[in-house]
Amino acid sequence: MESKETESGVLTALARKMRLSATLAINELVHRRTAKGYKVVHLGFGEATFPIQRNVAAAHRNASDITSYLPVAGLPELQEAIAKFQSRRLKNNIQPDQVVVAPGSKPLLFALFDLLQGDVLLPRPSWVSYEPQIIHAGKQIFWVETDKDDRHTITEASLQSAFSSAVKEGGNPRIMLINSPSNPTGQAFNKRDVETISAFCRSHDITLISDEIYSDISFSEESSATPCSGSRFNIGHKILTGGLSKTYSAGGWRVGYAIFPANDFGARVQSAVLAYASECWSAASAPAQKAAAVAFDTSPEMDLYRSQVVSLHKRCTLALYQALRQCGLAVAEPKGAFYVYPSFHPFSKQLEARGIWSSQELSRWLIEECGVAALPGSAFGEDDAGPIGGRYRLRMATSYLYFHDQIERYEHGYHLLDLASDANNVLNLPLLDEAIQAIQNAVAKLRIEL
Ligand SMILES: Cc1ncc(COP(=O)(O)O)c(C=O)c1O
Repeated sequence: MESKETESGVLTALARKMRLSATLAINELVHRRTAKGYKVVHLGFGEATFPIQRNVAAAHRNASDITSYLPVAGLPELQEAIAKFQSRRLKNNIQPDQVVVAPGSKPLLFALFDLLQGDVLLPRPSWVSYEPQIIHAGKQIFWVETDKDDRHTITEASLQSAFSSAVKEGGNPRIMLINSPSNPTGQAFNKRDVETISAFCRSHDITLISDEIYSDISFSEESSATPCSGSRFNIGHKILTGGLSKTYSAGGWRVGYAIFPANDFGARVQSAVLAYASECWSAASAPAQKAAAVAFDTSPEMDLYRSQVVSLHKRCTLALYQALRQCGLAVAEPKGAFYVYPSFHPFSKQLEARGIWSSQELSRWLIEECGVAALPGSAFGEDDAGPIGGRYRLRMATSYLYFHDQIERYEHGYHLLDLASDANNVLNLPLLDEAIQAIQNAVAKLRIEL
């Protein structure tokens, strides 16, 4: 009898479903183009690159001799700092033992999908990694359609429709994940939106995971609404995830966290996550946790740093948004994070004339013919053959538009953050100017009749 391996190769059925992440794939394409001497404006990768706040950097350096494994749930002083920071933000009394720290929020989301029962309701579009994580967990995804213009707004009707079709198709939707401010759209929910989503999840016995990795980078009070605020958090089935990567420009340090409600549901899920963590990643890096305890501090220095970070992302991201609008692209004003999510559908005729029928083809054309790297909407669950709202969408990240290299990052970065705090200061961002010029050239090229 043939062994299983000769029948199907060496990989499991699961491995055959996994693909290289679209983000990494585009990164490699950009590197190949630049290695050949082509200039490419990199709007494809969402990695915050501001200089690390000085006290946080010092804490990391000073902790480099701590080499022991830390507790699975995290360094107690970090759990405490996160609890205090989030208690202030959520207007709630979060206790340190409600917090679990991990090497990034990504593995925590992975664990949650593996451990919670049921299938998943996911807004379309959503961050690239949720879909493979959910597939890995053996669950089905049921997309919740969003507004055709901003690709973010969710209504009671869109929730109900996703839920009903899931049930009709034999699914068992018990989890919903939301992300606000959003990667890829840069849009954010307001208070009414989060109330609608919370009420829907409550009435359908759905666990709501709120990925708040960008929550500190909100451009206004209105866009910082979260379903986890207030004391109701502790009576519901909600889990908040967040981390160090975006606000503190420290993705590579790998620190993320989850907050569980102080109720029976929270305790049960939390202990399952801790068991999972103990067998999978053990604990996050010790120096990074020491540094994170300083980062999440509610001290005036850290509050100042956070406000400078928001101002700089806001100014650069809104400048790119305005330029895209002026070019004639369909784009909603971003409300947070560092993403803009334009659609090229106003140029459908010109795109079709060039044989470009999908966001994937558009993304490739922009890199190869115009030197602009941006991720296709299809990487975020958009249907390239679907309606106009989702087709020809690209996600553009502004996070690489500040510095050419590490030297510039540390020589000019702190000054740039200081300058950004005052709206009257002029910011000199040559990489942003180059990006805008490259996009204008691309649109001008499209306008030329073939
Ligand atoms: C929406 C979203 N969630 C989660 C993450 C994961 O962040 P980390 O694992 O660095 O905490 C990212 C990173 O790109 C993201 O964009």
